[in-house]
Amino acid sequence: MKILIPGSFDPPTNGHIDVINRCADIFSDIVVGVVVNPSKDSLFSPEERSSILEEIYENKNNVKVESFEGLLVDFATSQSVDAIVKGLRAMTDFDYEFQMAQANSTLKGFETIFIPSSPEYGYLSSSMVKEIHSYGGDISSLVPKNVLEKMKNV
Ligand code: PNS
Repeated sequence: MKILIPGSFDPPTNGHIDVINRCADIFSDIVVGVVVNPSKDSLFSPEERSSILEEIYENKNNVKVESFEGLLVDFATSQSVDAIVKGLRAMTDFDYEFQMAQANSTLKGFETIFIPSSPEYGYLSSSMVKEIHSYGGDISSLVPKNVLEKMKNV
């Protein structure tokens, strides 16, 4: 089964990597979709976010990284995926994700499969990483090594 894991990944966190890795153990093919979102003030460009993820998954044959613009369902169609997978951290994620899942189902019939975050990453988000980093806090246990290196320069 081929699935799409979409997100902003600005930056990718250990929580994202945990979800992608666990999915790669379950599903045969994974497309990680990095959204190009013009309305969002992002820390890293879509190219940088994609290349961070490509570096992490360069030796994992069933994970490929692509960026996309526009509707998720159009990208999902172009990639011929069977379903969309989203990580859920807490009930606070649920309302929004549930609405998106229903919209994506209504628009083009895509099913969304939710996977719970591992307990140790239940609180973790890209925004939290950026905030901790902006105040000089230690993010070394929260992000992959290549993100840590890149964050040293911002
Ligand atoms: O990591 P994020 O920011 O929670 O990811 C959000 C993402 C990329 C999944 C969402 O913004 C998205 O699907 N964007 C594409 C535009 C779209 O299809 N919007 C309507 C969804 S119902």
